[in-house]
Amino acid sequence: MENNQVIINTDIEQGTINKNIYGHFAEHLGRGIYEGIWVGEDSSIPNTNGIRNDVVEALKNISIPVIRWPGGCFADEYHWKDGIGPREGRKRMVNTHWGGLVENNHFGTHEFMMLCDMLGTEPYICGNVGSGTVQEMSEWVEYMTFDGESPMANWRQENGRQEPWKVKYFGVGNENWGCGGNMRPEYYADLYRRYQTFVRNYGDNKLYKIAGGANVDDYNWTEVLMREAGHMMDGLSIHYYTIPGDFWTGKGSATDFTEDEWTITMQRVLHTEELIKKHSIIMDKYDPDKRVGMIIDEWGTWFDAEPGTNPGFLYQQNTIRDALVAGVSLNIFNNHCDRVQMANIAQTVNVLQAMILTDGAKMILTPTYHVFEMYKVHQDAKKLAVEMNVDSITSGGAVIPQVSVSASKDKDGKVHISLCNLDNHADATITLNLRGIVDPIHVTGRILTSEQMDARNTFEAPNTVEPTAFTGFTVEGHNLRISLPSKSVMMLAIES
Ligand code: AHR
Repeated sequence: MENNQVIINTDIEQGTINKNIYGHFAEHLGRGIYEGIWVGEDSSIPNTNGIRNDVVEALKNISIPVIRWPGGCFADEYHWKDGIGPREGRKRMVNTHWGGLVENNHFGTHEFMMLCDMLGTEPYICGNVGSGTVQEMSEWVEYMTFDGESPMANWRQENGRQEPWKVKYFGVGNENWGCGGNMRPEYYADLYRRYQTFVRNYGDNKLYKIAGGANVDDYNWTEVLMREAGHMMDGLSIHYYTIPGDFWTGKGSATDFTEDEWTITMQRVLHTEELIKKHSIIMDKYDPDKRVGMIIDEWGTWFDAEPGTNPGFLYQQNTIRDALVAGVSLNIFNNHCDRVQMANIAQTVNVLQAMILTDGAKMILTPTYHVFEMYKVHQDAKKLAVEMNVDSITSGGAVIPQVSVSASKDKDGKVHISLCNLDNHADATITLNLRGIVDPIHVTGRILTSEQMDARNTFEAPNTVEPTAFTGFTVEGHNLRISLPSKSVMMLAIES
């Protein structure tokens, strides 16, 4: 292949990009749920039944297919019965994992389901294995999904919800190797088998059961879980965060970083692909037909908390660097859609790599939000085969490819190509060969980029990083010659 050439095989489809790859994660953590989503009916911030209108409107625009809730580490200390019934009577608890705040349980099952209805998104409930009982988990499913007379269904109706909800995705614990109970994989595999037995399908509600999976490269965890319980699960989770520094001694600043740190961040996000491949090899051994989905239900950047904020709230700003991390990650997930059935960015509002940041009644959209908006065209589209030969970047001891790409064809035959230039100062000139397409072709493009590598949106300047139209290409037959600006995320749409 020629240098700096990308071949998009528009006539070779390789499965469907599950829309759930564009999923989210919203935990009871810091200002993620409270303030970020839930303000209560009496708030002066415009809301519908307690959920803020501005956030809902913005989130609807990125077509979120699924949201994971209530945690995270919080899930394994959450007792769902504390979060139902009249709000003023709900039990208060201490959120020991995240800042030690008093949690008033005002946002519970009914409120979460209302949020999902408003967004047109599917709920993904994470149950409590670490400190909860089998009965508690079993009754939560009965409460939400039983149609007819039963103790839990009756209770749900007393609390104002007649019809059962549809719940498909159910997680049996979270990070049970760590905050979810510090278990060995053998022990968790047995607990998973036991708990999931009592997580039942009622009526026509069919659950997709997700087992708590490995931390990063703990391949033994995946091996043991697949061997001992693979036949009892529909999905197995994996968590991986992009952290340029060291997890415990300093993850690095979200906004104040060097060019080398930029490249190391890109190297760390690209590591996602190696993790997917290696965990996939183990899953293939026990599940060659790829029935069990790989569920990457926590991913994204994790930096030091914004100076002056509670470190337990994990509030961080979001720059064009985060946009690149999002674009590269989503390209990787798209390219491995044969096994990756869901991914959930951490987290939706005000926590880690958020879509939205709020300050009282004010709200801003982050560069990451714009990537999710640009990439939504890939949801449920057919993945196209891509080959490429691109230059490398060398910086800070890291050697990485300059360009990341994925491509899909939607139900109307329109081709979408997402391209990222990972270099923080050099443009990339590449030739895109649209093999198999009938020309003439009509091309439109959108780009997210900036002059500064730490560019971001703030409450004072909310529109600094926004997508714009892109016309920096020439078309010759089915070849596109593109000048891809440094630090950019681009989406091309091609019709023929
Ligand atoms: O997303 C923040 C935390 O990261 C989650 O609660 C936990 O599952 C993970 O360690």
